[in-house]
Amino acid sequence: MIFELSFLAVLLARVECAVSSQSNFSLYAYGTGLNPGLRLFYGDGHAYVGSKAPSFISQAVNITLSEKGDDAQFVATPERTVGWAAQPTMLVDMDTNSFDPVGFTWGNETLDNSSSTVGFGIYGGWAFHRNDEGTIEMKFYATPTNESDVYLVKWNGGETKSVDGISISLRTQAPVVITS
Ligand SMILES: *[C@@H]1O[C@H](CO)[C@@H](O)[C@H](O)[C@H]1NC(C)=O
Ligand SMILES: *[C@@H]1O[C@H](CO)[C@@H](O)[C@H](O)[C@H]1NC(C)=O
Ligand SMILES: *[C@@H]1O[C@H](CO)[C@@H](O)[C@H](O)[C@H]1NC(C)=O
Ligand SMILES: *[C@@H]1O[C@H](CO)[C@@H](O)[C@H](O)[C@H]1NC(C)=O
Ligand SMILES: *[C@@H]1O[C@H](CO)[C@@H](O)[C@H](O)[C@H]1NC(C)=O
Repeated sequence: MIFELSFLAVLLARVECAVSSQSNFSLYAYGTGLNPGLRLFYGDGHAYVGSKAPSFISQAVNITLSEKGDDAQFVATPERTVGWAAQPTMLVDMDTNSFDPVGFTWGNETLDNSSSTVGFGIYGGWAFHRNDEGTIEMKFYATPTNESDVYLVKWNGGETKSVDGISISLRTQAPVVITS
């Protein structure tokens, strides 16, 4: 898996111009030891993947995302009415010492200067973030919560640092449902 990911990263770095945009999509997490295709949802300002809303979150809602603007932001649309006055955008902390939750911002908060809301994209169905040097990165991790099958999504800014979480890919591909 690690090999596949780094191979893909190299491949992606070489086809920068070919990055295509996809209109509206949901994201699903795939990684070793994870139930395949846990859906990404919004929970109190952070990104989670899981099969259900955990009880410790006061506002949890499934979202679809769309890639907007020249800056390539991931803008969230809730799947049910939640009374948001605006649409939040996805955020990662690029600081090389950080292992922080992937968040959502409304644009009215003061952010860390290492936080980035721009440079997101989908390539071949895989979500990525492009750093200031233009390199495509997929440093998404799932960290367990105290509820089964629910993980907080983090961004491993350091990448080489060992962290307590499962390396995941976030893909637009929904899991295959096997019905018998
Ligand atoms: C995509 O989402 C936007 C809201 O962000 C909505 O206005 C638009 O109608 C959606 N497009 C499709 C094809 O569902
Ligand atoms: C997202 O949708 C699935 C399928 O409808 C549902 O089981 C799950 O509880 C929803 N998650 C949230 C956070 O609302
Ligand atoms: C930012 O906007 C959101 C949505 O409109 C609102 O819920 C939140 O309280 C605002 N935060 C600040 C710090 O103004
Ligand atoms: C970011 O913040 C740190 C500490 O708060 C500061 O040292 C640094 O100069 C800031 N960088 C930029 C580009 O503003
Ligand atoms: C589960 O974790 C959440 C978030 O860290 C915390 O607020 C909650 O109290 C925890 N619940 C239990 C039963 O430990």
